[in-house]
Amino acid sequence: MSKIISGFSKLSKEEKIDWLSTNYFNNQPEIIKTIKQYWNVDEKLQQLHDDFIENTISNFYMPYGIAPNFVINNKNYVIPMVVEESSVVAAASLVAKFWSTRGGFKTEVISTTKIGQVHFMYSGNKSDLEAYFNEQKPELFKATASITKNMEKRGGGILDIQLVDKTNDLENYYQLHVTFETKDSMGANFINSCLEAMANQFRKDDIEIIMSILSNYVPECIVRSEVSCKIEDLGGDDPYKFARKFEQAVKIAEIEPYRAVTHNKGIMNGIDSVVLATGNDFRAIEAGAHAYASKDGQYRSLTHCSIEDDVFKFWIELPLALGTVGGLTALHPMAKLSLDMMQRPSARELMEIMATAGLAQNFAALRALTTKGIQHGHMKMHLQNILNQLEATSKEKEKIVAFFENKTVSHSAVVDKFNELRK
Ligand code: MEV
Repeated sequence: MSKIISGFSKLSKEEKIDWLSTNYFNNQPEIIKTIKQYWNVDEKLQQLHDDFIENTISNFYMPYGIAPNFVINNKNYVIPMVVEESSVVAAASLVAKFWSTRGGFKTEVISTTKIGQVHFMYSGNKSDLEAYFNEQKPELFKATASITKNMEKRGGGILDIQLVDKTNDLENYYQLHVTFETKDSMGANFINSCLEAMANQFRKDDIEIIMSILSNYVPECIVRSEVSCKIEDLGGDDPYKFARKFEQAVKIAEIEPYRAVTHNKGIMNGIDSVVLATGNDFRAIEAGAHAYASKDGQYRSLTHCSIEDDVFKFWIELPLALGTVGGLTALHPMAKLSLDMMQRPSARELMEIMATAGLAQNFAALRALTTKGIQHGHMKMHLQNILNQLEATSKEKEKIVAFFENKTVSHSAVVDKFNELRK
């Protein structure tokens, strides 16, 4: 039987599930049960989620955790995090508490400019194109007036439009390079609508518009978060040794791409969790952050560390294009809850909070890596997952957790202990 189907999106949810079950699961009844078990009993709420995308058949749960005790610019925050990796929220909470007694996190938004481009081909004389662009520039602004009206009321809009010659890289290739301020919205729809309106205005016989789209590379939408304290205040057995090793770990990630990618992945553990919890676009954030990490031609760490005059300083600088209005932030009740929890931050404030979550996560990872090693904490957190996989009872869980209190957790050691109990 052919599994290619036309008009699938027009089927009802039940019909879609039936089709899936018949064609890919041999009508096993437990498949339908699994799918439906995640439906929300509140039909209106379920419908809201169904409508976010096409062909929704169920929901996919992720844990929603909170990390308390963040002090950012002297203000207290509890940060919501959506993530499946067991140690992320625990690490954020520990580090938030640690820095809360050492002055907290200090942050600063450096810039908030976003970028979009109209890509086009033109084979004529460059000076004619320049003359046409100069004549058209005010018209391009006019062509977007109905779209920019509301944004301008909020203090945003189109900042500038430039003609860029890219013909050295690709024959006949030019761009309209447009910069935007989108205030509290991420601005993807706003930017793309402006660009398409500009492209329509700009096109003519000898200009072939290829495409109009925002860029997720936003090196002018940058935030910085920092912690610092006297080395002796870092605590532990030997804070000087700790600070030195920590600094070396950061320097390694600054020059060694293999390490930098994992280092930055750990940072994104913290950032993506907050991005998801607030209904922001994690693919955009990921793409922009990693592109920025390679801005000078080599992939490098997004965090940096210095030790000067016995002061330990650790900071992150990265691009974050975020929204606290519009998109899913207003639609998803949990995204709204997240923003309320953080006292309804502006997009700038949310940039500061997320950069801090990333810095905290990186601090936790490097502290573990340069001292006890990462597996100690990871496996402790992973123990519950192993026990759930083994379908241990709560009594068994209690006993096994107590047993591993002062021991190294490994999958096989847990299985051995579990089998021993069941004997
Ligand atoms: C794991 O998700 C993240 C770490 O690998 C980050 C790092 O190595 O810095 C622990």
